[in-house]
Amino acid sequence: MGELFVMNHPLIKHKITFIRDKNTGPKEFRELVKEVSMLMGYEVTRNLELEDIEIETPITTTKSKVISGKKLGIVPILRAGLGMVEGMLTLLPAAKVGHVGLYRDPETLQAVEYYCKLPKDVEERTLIVTDPMLATGVSAISALEAIKKRGAKDIKLMCLIAAPEGVKAIQEAHPDVDIYLGEMDEKLNDHAYIVPGLGDAGDRLYGTK
Ligand code: URA
Repeated sequence: MGELFVMNHPLIKHKITFIRDKNTGPKEFRELVKEVSMLMGYEVTRNLELEDIEIETPITTTKSKVISGKKLGIVPILRAGLGMVEGMLTLLPAAKVGHVGLYRDPETLQAVEYYCKLPKDVEERTLIVTDPMLATGVSAISALEAIKKRGAKDIKLMCLIAAPEGVKAIQEAHPDVDIYLGEMDEKLNDHAYIVPGLGDAGDRLYGTK
């Protein structure tokens, strides 16, 4: 079973409070999502392998650690997942970025893939899939399927807020995927919005409504 990591850090809690607040406008919302993504990125990258390189400080020659050539990819689920990319790229400037787009078929209610473009060597990369809201899990499950179908083997899912229903659905469908959450909320409402949540993350990021 993949592991579940729920961040427990005062800065993340503080910033998520203002992300949730309905009076926070898109500019501040985007900045806060970027900042929380960076803080979460610290935890998501905790197990990256290191290697020694030799450098010269102004005082002496020494061996010091750098991230060893592990290839990384960030894969936002369109559209709201895009909001988390800038923060992650700030931490991981060499990471490649793939994109997965899904829409919900109004009749079957299934997620249908309309776009998937991933780095070529996807099977050699650790992919960090971003989606701010893990609600029912339907779109994240399909996005993970789309990525695995193209060869991805090492995947982490990173969300700001989740409902327990969504986490359970991912753990059942993709038990190999580690899940990183900023916060775990109470439940879903009848319209599949997370409660208390933050509303529609895509609309709040991009000022659409
Ligand atoms: N997607 C969102 O943007 N918000 C929710 O509460 C659920 C899904």
